[in-house]
Amino acid sequence: MKKQMLAVYKKVFGEESNPRLFFSPGRVNLIGEHIDYNGGFVFPCALSIGTYGAISLRNDRLIRLYSENFATSGVISISLDDLEYQKSHTWANYLKGVIRELLLEHKPILSGFNIAIDGDLPCGAGLSSSASIELLVAVMMNDLFCLNIPRKDLALLCKKVENEYIGVNCGIMDQFVIALGKAKNALLLDCVSLDYTFVPLNHPKYAFVIVNSKVKRGLVDSKYNERRRECETAKKILQKYIPISELCDLNEEQFQNYGLFLIDPVLYRRAKHAVTENARTINANHQLLAGDLHAFGEAMIASHWSLSDDFEVSCPELDFLVKIALLNGSIGSRMTGAGFGGCTINIVKNTDIDYFKSSIITQYKDMYGIDAEIYIAQSSDGTKEITI
Ligand code: GLA
Repeated sequence: MKKQMLAVYKKVFGEESNPRLFFSPGRVNLIGEHIDYNGGFVFPCALSIGTYGAISLRNDRLIRLYSENFATSGVISISLDDLEYQKSHTWANYLKGVIRELLLEHKPILSGFNIAIDGDLPCGAGLSSSASIELLVAVMMNDLFCLNIPRKDLALLCKKVENEYIGVNCGIMDQFVIALGKAKNALLLDCVSLDYTFVPLNHPKYAFVIVNSKVKRGLVDSKYNERRRECETAKKILQKYIPISELCDLNEEQFQNYGLFLIDPVLYRRAKHAVTENARTINANHQLLAGDLHAFGEAMIASHWSLSDDFEVSCPELDFLVKIALLNGSIGSRMTGAGFGGCTINIVKNTDIDYFKSSIITQYKDMYGIDAEIYIAQSSDGTKEITI
C-alpha cells in the first residue's frame, strides 16, 4: 500500500516532489455501542486497514486534493481562504472541515499543499472511514506545521468537525481511538473523563474477524441523530427523579427502580440498552484481561440483541450474519459501529477461520444474494507518519 500511495501521488502531482507519507487506521468497536454519547465506556481498537495519505507543501495558498478511492472526482482545488462546506466536494469536506477548524483556532497553517489519498478501508461499512480521513489530515497539519497539539485535542477537534461542519452528531469514540490507538491492544475509554487504558489483545488461539454485510443505509445519519435525541429525552425525564448527568451513570439496579418512570416504551428501551451495554462493557474488560474469551463472546451476543431489539439500530442482514456466525464457529458476534448496515465483529478460533469464512459467504449469498467480505482484524497504532 505504501508504494502504491507514492505512485498515486506522483501520477497526480508529478514526479519532482518528495511527499511525506501518513497512515490513519479505521476502527472496530469490540463492545460498548451507542454509549459514547451517553457517558459510558467503549472498547474499540484501531485497525491495520485504513487511509494512506501523501502530502507536500506548496508555495501558494492552494490546496489540491485527490483520492484514488474517488478517482472520478479528479483533483479538487480549493483555497486556504475559502473552506466553506460544499456538497459537491463530498469526501474532501472532511479534510476542509479539519483545516478550517485549525485556522479558526489560529493555528499557523502557513501555506497550501497537495494531498493524495488511497486506502484499503471499505467506505460506509461502519469502520469509520470518515474519522480516519479527519485524523489523517489533522496529524499531517500537526506534524508539517509543528502545531504541537496533543492527540486528545486532535481527536476532540475532529469530533467537532464531524458534529458541526459535517452535521453528524457522533460521540468521541472513533476519533479518539484513531488518534490514540496502539497496536496489539484494545482501548477502554471512559467517555466522560476521557481516561483510557490499553488492554492487550494477546489471545493466540483466537482472532477477531470482521464480516462486511455490504449493506449501506442512506438514513444512517438521521437515524443516528434520532437515537441521540431519544437518549437525551430519556435522560431529562429520569433526571426529575434521580440526580444523574448521563444515562450511563445509572447502574442496572437503579435502572430497575427508576426506568419505570419512562412511560414511553421506546424511551424505556433506549435507556435500557445504554445502561445494560455499559455494564457489559465494564465486565468485558475484566473478561478480556482474564483471557475468558467465551464470557467476552457471550457479552458480545447480548450486546447485539440489545442493539437490535432495544436500540433498533440493526437490520435483518446483520441479525442474520450474527445468527449464522454462531452456528459456524464464532463464540461471540455482534454488529459494530453505528449500525443500519455495515459490519459484524466475531471471535473465531484460528483453526476454525477457513470453515467460518466459507460458511458465512455461502449462506449469506444464498439468503441475500450479496457477497460478504471478511477481514481478520489486526489492531494498529493510531494515525502516524510512515516511511517506505
Ligand atoms: C458511530 C459514531 C460513534 C459511536 C458509534 C456507535 O461510529 O461515530 O461516536 O456513537 O457510532 O457506538
